[in-house]
Amino acid sequence: MTFVLDEATTASAEANAACSLDHYLALPDHSMDDRIAAARAKLGATTVILGHHYQRDEVVRFADFTGDSYKLSKSAMATGARYIVFCGVHFMAESADILADNGQQVILPDLNAGCSMADMAEISQVEDCWDALERAGLASETIPVTYINSTAAIKAFCGERDGLVCTSSSARKALDWAFARGKRVLFLPDQHLGRNTGQAMGIPLEEMVVWDPWAVQLGSSWGGQSAERLAASRIVLWKGHCAVHQRFLPSHVDQVRAKYPGIQVIVHPECRYEVCQKADMLGSTEQLIARIEQAPVGSTFAVGTEIHLVNRMAKRFASEGKKIVSLDDAGCLCTTMYRISPQHLAWALENLVEGHVVNRIQVRPDVKRWARVALDRMLG
Ligand code: 13P
Ligand code: SF4
Repeated sequence: MTFVLDEATTASAEANAACSLDHYLALPDHSMDDRIAAARAKLGATTVILGHHYQRDEVVRFADFTGDSYKLSKSAMATGARYIVFCGVHFMAESADILADNGQQVILPDLNAGCSMADMAEISQVEDCWDALERAGLASETIPVTYINSTAAIKAFCGERDGLVCTSSSARKALDWAFARGKRVLFLPDQHLGRNTGQAMGIPLEEMVVWDPWAVQLGSSWGGQSAERLAASRIVLWKGHCAVHQRFLPSHVDQVRAKYPGIQVIVHPECRYEVCQKADMLGSTEQLIARIEQAPVGSTFAVGTEIHLVNRMAKRFASEGKKIVSLDDAGCLCTTMYRISPQHLAWALENLVEGHVVNRIQVRPDVKRWARVALDRMLG
């Protein structure tokens, strides 16, 4: 059986499975280790497991490749494996399917692993925004740039309108690319990444306006702005955010600096502008790890990103005499990344061993075509 996840993507449902997921979910985490390893060994080179840095330790330890969104997109494109098991979230598996060769199949072990930020922009809302830019005579001079944390349909929308995709590690390059071709950028769905990147390029805050898709639903023709303000802007920022990163506050930076004099504060650019302004460095998950790797022994870091990655780095770098703490004492969990459990991974792999592909993510061919154009502009 197949069901539709959104307007552009389908996924094969559990009905294809030889073994029921419920049976796995009743078993403890640790009992999955040997089963995952055994299934992995049987599948050999037919299968590659990709793991995002926010995955749980019990899952990410089985990944053949780990990385940020950019690196994982490259890994998905480079692998010759027939099956790509993506331990990450939905938009990552979709991107892998868009980049994969014909014949390769992408599996997301739990179809409920979405991204709440990506859910903040629907294709119909983006079309409404573009219609407004057209009415104001601004669309022809505006380049749409979407963060990879968005649906395949939005990526295709950008590809078809001379725009592109970016990740947190390529946002600056993407905006440079876009400003070489247009006067203005429509940046979606993360307002913080857009604002932080624009500010680093020297664009004044008053030249970045927020487009509110919900204001449109309440009757505002200009997304809570005016046609004049849109015309005067360099970046139109979509009103979306990551709930995990938005929880970090400027006061957390002050507190951690007071508690650990000399500490370096490094944060993901999905954090608020006010937090990023106080930080010593902004970077994608891969860049945050690299910064700590390259630091001298005895360095201390407060890291503003998802708690599984922070805890993993704290353990890994303790032996090198480096201290890593979360920027926020409470620690922020990405609940959707967390949905990929060892049980889901074992279920997906053991089904593959039995010749059953479960939870296959498939982007519609017409959407794939333009989404690929937008992704290739990012990767090229
Ligand atoms: P990275 O590309 O930096 O790994 O970020 C992905 C993400 O979803 C961060 O919240
Ligand atoms: Fe989405 Fe935020 Fe989770 Fe990243 S951390 S996958 S942006 S919800």
